[in-house]
Amino acid sequence: MSDALKAVPHKDRIDTGVIDVTAISKGLVESLADTYRLLFKSHAYHWNVEGPLFHSIHVLTEAQYTDLFTAADDLAERIRALGQLAPFQLAAITKASVVRDLDRLPSAQEMVEDLAADHEAIAKRMRAVIATADEGEDPVTADLLTGRCAFHEKAAWMLRATAK
Ligand SMILES: [Fe+2]
Repeated sequence: MSDALKAVPHKDRIDTGVIDVTAISKGLVESLADTYRLLFKSHAYHWNVEGPLFHSIHVLTEAQYTDLFTAADDLAERIRALGQLAPFQLAAITKASVVRDLDRLPSAQEMVEDLAADHEAIAKRMRAVIATADEGEDPVTADLLTGRCAFHEKAAWMLRATAK
């Protein structure tokens, strides 16, 4: 069979020197999934919060879901720049994320505690992907996720301070 008739892998042929694109992309997909899931949860709490903490939580969650929306786009576009497809099914996002929904609408106090715990879990999970990116000689992904970790740690602090 001539080379012209060989099957072409369904991904772009990109060689920027990044090692183990598959492992790094898997980590980026998980980071995107966590970001998208928390984007929805932050928005849902923004809509439904009630009580004396209403204004603080309503305003804080708006700033946070706005940041998460931009970040989801940045993460997906990094996956594409590495020659991989970004997730295109919501079920795949839900499955890849560590963020879980509560089985009932939480109180305002519980909302901030729940969001703070999610931000912490996401920062922890991203830290492992940064290590994978460093090993794979991918400082661009490591830099992107370092910025995301800083956001999640700061968000967790603000939420915890609100909950006191
Ligand atoms: Fe709003």
